Amino acid sequence: MENTTNLSSDTPLTRIDFMRLVGTSIGLIAFTNCVSACGKETGDLAPAASVDFTVNWAKSPYSNLQTKGGYVVEQGVIVAQTLAGDFVAVSAVCTHDKNTLVFQGTSNRFYCPAHQSAFSTTGAVQNGPAVNSLKTYTVTVNQATGDIRVNG
Ligand code: FES
Repeated sequence: MENTTNLSSDTPLTRIDFMRLVGTSIGLIAFTNCVSACGKETGDLAPAASVDFTVNWAKSPYSNLQTKGGYVVEQGVIVAQTLAGDFVAVSAVCTHDKNTLVFQGTSNRFYCPAHQSAFSTTGAVQNGPAVNSLKTYTVTVNQATGDIRVNG
């Protein structure tokens, strides 16, 4: 007995066959979109390149750094003064999908307005969808001059 399927037959599709065909197609499209979107959540994005610069909290536009919770973005790096009065520097590029982060002084965290990922002052992920930590940089502070050197 021959077992073939003739797609060009004149046999009309039943309603059930049609719904199965449409359902399978929609399922495949949804699965493909999910795999594509979920792939972005691996956070495998390149951190900001190596940097070596100095900002001074006594000079514009860096005077925000005189205040606990203040921050500036320089050369793709966020430099912030934490609520504890420490200076930290991390990549300003979110590891989820490359949007620019802000420092939320009242929450003492780095935050991505795009999809609400949050990172601690050490760059560790607090809330996703980001899964990878932020690149951190070495910060050296000269209290006498106000110079803050960032490198790494
Ligand atoms: S880009 Fe999606 S959470 Fe930052």
